[in-house]
Parts: sequence; C-alpha cells; structure tokens
Amino acid sequence: MKQDFLKYQAQTSPYPLAMEVSHASGSYIYDTAGKKHLDFVAGVSACTLGHCHPRVVNAIKEQAEKYLHVMVYGEYAQGPAIELCKLLAEHLPAPLEKTYLTNSGTEAIEGALKLARRYTGRSGIIAAKSAYHGNTMGSLSLMTYEERQKPFRPLIPDISWIEFNREEDLEKIDENTAGVILESIQGGAGFIQPQNDYLKKVKAKCEKVGALLILDEIQPGFGRTGKLFGFQNYNTVPDILVMGKGMGGGLPIGAFTSSSEIMDTLSANPKMGHITTFGGNPVIAAAALATLQELVTGDLLAQTLQKEQLFRELLVHPLISEVRGRGLMLAPILTSEEIANELVLRAQDKGLILFWLLFEGKAIRITPPLTISMSEIKEGCGIIIDILNDLLQDK
Ligand SMILES: Cc1ncc(COP(=O)(O)O)c(C=O)c1O
Repeated sequence: MKQDFLKYQAQTSPYPLAMEVSHASGSYIYDTAGKKHLDFVAGVSACTLGHCHPRVVNAIKEQAEKYLHVMVYGEYAQGPAIELCKLLAEHLPAPLEKTYLTNSGTEAIEGALKLARRYTGRSGIIAAKSAYHGNTMGSLSLMTYEERQKPFRPLIPDISWIEFNREEDLEKIDENTAGVILESIQGGAGFIQPQNDYLKKVKAKCEKVGALLILDEIQPGFGRTGKLFGFQNYNTVPDILVMGKGMGGGLPIGAFTSSSEIMDTLSANPKMGHITTFGGNPVIAAAALATLQELVTGDLLAQTLQKEQLFRELLVHPLISEVRGRGLMLAPILTSEEIANELVLRAQDKGLILFWLLFEGKAIRITPPLTISMSEIKEGCGIIIDILNDLLQDK
C-alpha cells in the first residue's frame, strides 16, 4: 500500500507519516498490521465524535438509501441541508441565521471574503499575521509566510495585516475595509487565544467604520473549546462565521453563516454570485446534522473542560514549557523543535497519534475526538511522559 500511495497519490510533503490504515473506531485507528493507535489528533480536529460514531454512520446509511446528489446547491429543497442550517440557526446568537454550505473550509473562507466585499462594496481585507485560513488562492493570499506564497504569486490584492492581540494595530481598520478576518483562536500559529477582550475591540472598530468581522471557526468550532463555537467564550458575535472540519463528523464540509440581510446579497447583482455543485450534499449534510444533534443534546460540551483539566494535570514535565489552547484544542510547547519532532515520531511507534502545528515548530497538537474517555487520556499522556523521560535521559 505504502509504495502505491507514494507513487500514485499526489503528496503534500516529502515525508508523509504513511500509516497504512485498515479501519477506525471510537478513539482508535487500526493499521493493516493489526496495531491499534490511540488518536489524539482526530484527523486534525475533524472527527468530533470519534471514528465511525454510530449516530453519524446511521445517518449516512439512511440518507444514502434515499437519495444522493440530485441538484446543484441552492435549487432544490433537500431535508438534510435545510435541517442542518435550521438547527445551526437555533443554536447561534442573532443575527447569525442563514448558512451557505460548502465542500471544505477554505471554500467557505472564499465565500466569506466574497460576501464581505459584496455587502460592503469595498475591497480591503485585513487578516492577522501568522494566521491560517486554507490553501486556495484567496485563503493563501491571507497568509504572511512568504515562502508559502512566493511560488504562487500574484495573489489577490488589497490585503493587509494586523498583529493578533495587538490593539494599536486596530487603527488600520478603516472606511476602505470590507472585512477583518481572524481565527477566534489562532491554530497554526500555536493555539493562541485572544487576550483582554481583543475580539470585542476588533468588532467595535469594525462597527465604527462599517467593516464586517469574519471569524474563522474551522478549527475551534463544533465543541472543541467547550462551547459550540469558540467565539462564545469571548462575548463577540461575528458578522460572518466560518466553519468546517469537525462539522461533518468525518465527512468533508464547510459553511459560512451570516444575517439574512448580509447573506441575501450573494444571490442578486449578479444573481448566482456564489455557486457550487456539491455544497450541501445530502449525505454529508446528514452526517453533519447527526454530529450537531449529538453535540447539542448530549453532555460532550460540558465534559470537554473536565477533559482539558485532566490533560493539564497530566502534561507536566521539564521538557514542556507550557500548554496553550482551550478545551480539547491543546498545544503543549516543548523546549525545542527537535524534542517536539522526536515526540511525534516516537509516539507513532508506541501507538499514540500526535501531530505538528503548521507554523509553531515547538508545539505538538492534541485535538482528540471529543468522545475520548478519561482513561484513554491517561493512557496517551502516560505514553507522552514516558517518551519525554527517555528524551530527558538522552540529553
Ligand atoms: C483555521 C482554519 N481555517 C481554514 C482551514 C482550511 O480548511 P480546509 O482544509 O477544509 O480547506 C483550516 C484547516 O486546517 C483551519 O484550521
């Protein structure tokens, strides 16, 4: 399998982990050699309810037997997509009530950028330094990593940047700004939370100059921080909310939500100002609906903070300088990039899945399924501490 994987499937890096996957269930992925791997990554924050959660699998099966794709997005009234958008509206603060369903996170970001420009009639977009919003041309244009952007220039114009959490930079938001886009917790940069009512202050400045606040919740959304969406921890309601990843319970989906007043501008002048074939696909929407129903009816959100507490109690070691993040979006910061790297690789050998963050080399990613049990957390953290003890001795 590995040889064919490397030969025929396009790669994203020269050194993929290349685990040969057999099947997955709950908090474990099983490889083709029969080894089980405890999953502290959840497909990079995507498998909210663990692997193959029965509620999600049943929803997929039931919908697959009724109908698959029948029409492009937005033409026919299809139950799963409507129920999903309605349930989201019921659990979001006003005026967030109308949702556009996409196929991925980055595509939802593209839609949100277009919506901000369309609604305000302005072109300026302000993003935060070190942010990650995806890899299509618009999302890539929001980045501040020259080595990642340079080969793909020219990117889209009229983008400028502010430092996340730096209040003095808010003066850059002005009457030319269509939208300010921020992750509510910066992910790739190292799970950095907003400080001192930062998001509230950004929103106030946006309101003052008539710009829209776009919050990218693709990573913290769907329960990871103990609330349905991360912004609910910081008392700030965005004008446009972007989601993805954990939304689909393991299937590909993204979405952006806004008020009807703002969202309705995308369907006129020009009509079909934003269209997609597969957005709102009925099988995927059914999986996302099942995931959302489980989150809003069960007690997983409340458990998330207890689980964070347990991680924080267990992840104490001389090689860990701090643990950043919130809920089940945690990033232990190791004392060096080498230690972080070695930890991820040795953990794989010992049957624990860890992963890196995009831009912070000293961090490791802990974003397990929200369904992970307390004993699984203890088991995985025990492996981490054992490896760190070995690394400490090797030094
Ligand atoms: C904060 C954030 N925004 C956007 C994206 C892009 O989502 P996708 O990979 O589904 O395009 C990601 C993916 O990692 C993300 O973490």
